[in-house]
Amino acid sequence: MANTVGNGKFQILKEIVREKGRNEEFVWSGPHIEADVTRQPISESSYEELKVFSESQKLTESIDALFAGAIVNGSENRPALHWALRGNADHLDKAVEFAQQAEACAEFANNVRAGKLGFEVKTILHIGIGGSDLGPRLIWDALRPIGHKGPNLRFCANIDPADFIEAIEGLEAESTLVVVVSKSFKTPETQANAKLAREWLIEEVGEAQLNKHMAAVSSAPDLAQTWGAPADRIFPMDSAVGGRYSVWSSVGLSLMIALGNDAWTEFLAGASEMDTHFRDAPLEENLPARLAMLDYHLHSQRNVPSRVVLSYAHRLRKLPDFLQQLEMESNGKSAASGKGELADTTAPITWGSVGTLGQHSFHQLLHQGTDRSSAEFIVSLNAGLKERKQENGQALLANAYAQAEAFLVGRSEAEAEVQLREKGVDEDTIKARAPHMHMEGGRASSMFILEDISPRSVGALIAMYEHRTFAYGMLLGINPFDQWGVELGKVMAEEIDKAISGSENKDRDSTTLRLIEKTQQARK
Ligand code: F6P
Repeated sequence: MANTVGNGKFQILKEIVREKGRNEEFVWSGPHIEADVTRQPISESSYEELKVFSESQKLTESIDALFAGAIVNGSENRPALHWALRGNADHLDKAVEFAQQAEACAEFANNVRAGKLGFEVKTILHIGIGGSDLGPRLIWDALRPIGHKGPNLRFCANIDPADFIEAIEGLEAESTLVVVVSKSFKTPETQANAKLAREWLIEEVGEAQLNKHMAAVSSAPDLAQTWGAPADRIFPMDSAVGGRYSVWSSVGLSLMIALGNDAWTEFLAGASEMDTHFRDAPLEENLPARLAMLDYHLHSQRNVPSRVVLSYAHRLRKLPDFLQQLEMESNGKSAASGKGELADTTAPITWGSVGTLGQHSFHQLLHQGTDRSSAEFIVSLNAGLKERKQENGQALLANAYAQAEAFLVGRSEAEAEVQLREKGVDEDTIKARAPHMHMEGGRASSMFILEDISPRSVGALIAMYEHRTFAYGMLLGINPFDQWGVELGKVMAEEIDKAISGSENKDRDSTTLRLIEKTQQARK
């Protein structure tokens, strides 16, 4: 028992993969992306059943409802209109308003780049958290090398003052524009950092110059104004655009300024191509819908508890962080939106890192650990070509392909023995070591293949993830657009903050009371 790896629970994939014709049936295409899922434990018959299941869950009708602007976010009584920010929205009442919002941002972005604010903006300090931070951070890293036309960006999200201090390190306030992004304009972290930024600006440029250095993005413009943002510098976003789906809205203002109009337009166009595909393609050809079916099969039917995102593209290194919010905040729920029972596993634990770094860290567990994860590789075929670093780019791809193959095929004890013998290792050592080198294999993975990392392909990729998340929510019977689970902790943090100050003393859990007391002692 002690010497076996996985005890056979990974074997099923190896058996399924031996089926013939998998390459045709399980290589799925959408705009700018190919998803090779041939190494996933899904048989042709299960896939056929999933298509039938998807119809019974009214997935097609749900997609139609999304693009019709119907109320798909029941618990908040709203449509979900992120896709309408990228086109395909002429039939919506809000189309004109959305276009005006985009124009206002574009005009401001042009003015900033043209130096029309009365000072040269060298840096934008983008303050926001969650959906008001993760998308812009991801896209900045991904597209800055190709589309960088304006100032540099710095980000500040955490309420830990260390984050703010780091964000302004070496910054000249005279050439900095602070953009405060908060859909609700109530989020404590953002409020706290915005306050620090305001104080910093007053100290450095003086109260009279303050307004020139500030802008805000919110769906509550009145709150932004009350806070002190100049009225003509408040860029609205619609309440029907969810935070984690909002990078395309005014939330992307800092990106629009920094990347320039061409890159931004291409980014939206790539997403719009994916929207059209998701809206119009039949389920059996619909990339996000098929991926959602696979998710349902893996996580909800086979109870695979985790998905590890392995971005073999340095510029997409923030993808795991972004997907953590997108997928876990959307579908990490145990309340069904309609009738019926929820599956035991809803959203998998989404985690990951950039390849090849993960190989020298947690891949050990992925190869030999006892828990199952589904690995999702993201590669770009032109890695290193534009940068004239062909060899390194090719090695990066080879590593991704090798990891995925090793996950599947593993290594038997006999193979390990042969390898050790070839290296001239003595027989006693071979006996002792070979069992530890045994890798059962049969570990699931998908390979997402992009032609390149361009504004268009990245736009398509992010939109694909959004639609897959939505479609998976529909298969699960979950509302992927609310996030009630984050509220309780927020309220309790406020209470505990007051309790530490001694102004409120509610009867709390004894561990928290001890921590409050300890903190009071330490901070006297
Ligand atoms: O804490 C969760 C959350 O509400 C996210 O859904 C959201 O993206 C984030 O906080 C930030 O919210 P806001 O943009 O309103 O500051």
